[in-house]
Amino acid sequence: MNDSFARNPAEAEILGRIARRGAIPFVEFMELALYHPEGGYYSRPGATTGPSGDFSTMPDVSPDFGRRLAVQAAEVHERLGGGPWRLVELGPGRGLMAVDLLEGLARHAPEAFRELSELVLVERSPSLREVQRRRLAEAAPGVPARWVASLAELPERSVRGVLVGNEILDALPVHLVVRTEEGIGERWVTIDGTGRLVFRDGPVTDPAVRILAERYGVVPRVGDLGEVSPALADLVADVSRALAAGAAIFVDYGHPAAVLGDEAHREGTLLAYHRHRVTDDLLARPGDQDLTAHVNWDHLEDAARAAGLEVAGRTTQDRFLLALGIVEDMVAPGAEDDAAGLARALAARSLVLPGPGAGKRFEVEILVREVGTDLRGLADPFAGLDAFS
Ligand SMILES: C[S@@+](CC[C@H](N)C(=O)[O-])C[C@H]1O[C@@H](n2cnc3c(N)ncnc32)[C@H](O)[C@@H]1O
Repeated sequence: MNDSFARNPAEAEILGRIARRGAIPFVEFMELALYHPEGGYYSRPGATTGPSGDFSTMPDVSPDFGRRLAVQAAEVHERLGGGPWRLVELGPGRGLMAVDLLEGLARHAPEAFRELSELVLVERSPSLREVQRRRLAEAAPGVPARWVASLAELPERSVRGVLVGNEILDALPVHLVVRTEEGIGERWVTIDGTGRLVFRDGPVTDPAVRILAERYGVVPRVGDLGEVSPALADLVADVSRALAAGAAIFVDYGHPAAVLGDEAHREGTLLAYHRHRVTDDLLARPGDQDLTAHVNWDHLEDAARAAGLEVAGRTTQDRFLLALGIVEDMVAPGAEDDAAGLARALAARSLVLPGPGAGKRFEVEILVREVGTDLRGLADPFAGLDAFS
């Protein structure tokens, strides 16, 4: 395939690099497919989440997700002894959750809302920044907001407050590793005789990749595929650098390392999303489909401790939201024929429905500095209710 057949600048760059070098490691393919400045999935103009996009995230489902997250942020503010504080959102997407967080503070924690000195949005895509800017100008014109392209741009220890990231970690580029008879190798991307993008096994791009794969046992058997993400540790190091005191709250899907290496995950966890359908054709449509891998929670926690943060703990999304009072939002306010109120109550319920839904699949991991680890969102929401425990 000639790069003049490329459908967008991300694909053109991928094909150009393969033409020059023969093959590129999958991690480089993923970085370009998602974050190429013009053609990357998260850089190009156009919706990525929500009904007209490729997948929905919790803020698309219900505003009470962000509003209850605000209750946790407010508790951290209280633990800091009050006073001016910053709220930082990593990868705010369409800006829905940023607005929900502010509304949640205003509604559930007015003092923390009044004392918020700045909302910082970490977004590298200019087109998404514009979407976020417009939404915030309309919904919260009085709140000082600032944008940076990367956490590394924030001065060291400049955040006394809370960082939040919803579905950020699963979007970090991963190395795709494979166990062969010779040991651990890495998947590279090349083109076959018919011009199609295809995988090829090759050597690891960096000894750190082999070390991570062995440490977390993600590919224990010959033939196993799995992922490792040095970018995860880099992000946690940036969080630790920026955080003077407070908490970082990540919501995402992931597994402990032992699960990532088990029989059910012999193919790894990488998936592609296109128009609300999941596919395992990772190399199709570079720049036009989302690519995502489950978070390795053990790696995240080890990286946090290595960076000097404390791990407060991890819980499932449903328990987190219940502990923060979402039951109040699950009852339709006002008249029985208030369709909007009923829809809102049903949406709040869907965040915590029992069974294999989002409430259990998503987890919340909280990293802290100087605010203690016994946070409300991590407490047992059913304590004292024997019938539920
Ligand atoms: C699946 S989307 C989630 C968007 C939004 N948080 C939501 O819940 O709808 C993943 C987002 O993570 C962002 N992202 C990836 N790496 C990042 C990083 N190092 N710092 C900040 N954001 C990042 C991407 O740009 C993208 O907007």
